[in-house]
Amino acid sequence: MSTVNSKPQLIVSDRGEPFAWAEEELRAIKEAMHHYPDARAATIDALKIVQRHRRWVSDSAIAAIAEVLQLSAADVDGVATFYNRIYRQPVGRHVILVCDSIGCYLTGFEKVYARIQEVLGISPGQTTADDRFTILPVVCLGACDRGPVLLIDEDTHFNVTPDQVSQLLEQYT
Ligand code: FES
Repeated sequence: MSTVNSKPQLIVSDRGEPFAWAEEELRAIKEAMHHYPDARAATIDALKIVQRHRRWVSDSAIAAIAEVLQLSAADVDGVATFYNRIYRQPVGRHVILVCDSIGCYLTGFEKVYARIQEVLGISPGQTTADDRFTILPVVCLGACDRGPVLLIDEDTHFNVTPDQVSQLLEQYT
């Protein structure tokens, strides 16, 4: 078994493709581990680091993180599954999270949601052919009095109307 001080290594993924750590990625995970009394607590940081580098977290990345943190892959996957902003499937360069909880429902999120799908020509869960956008539903983003609310990458957009959608998406290339 490797230790946190081991060199980046090649791990054969479950899809038959090699998984290789980027030096920077592995370094960032090891730094994160120093901030916690035990490696398990660094799991979400490690997942975010991998996602920042690769956009999403594959099964092979889960296994690789588990090896570095000396946890089981099931433990790491459990954390990844719990956080709805860790993507376990490939996503586009920009992820549009559309709040579909009750507050945004009452303020008409459905029309905004429909307009986004119309403009991009994709359905929720899909990615545009140019790899630019993925649309996903998300539970309450904590701004229920300012719905409909969208989160695009790290940007929260409040009181979005269908008419604003095209211009809003143009900001993300
Ligand atoms: S219900 Fe949409 S932000 Fe809370």
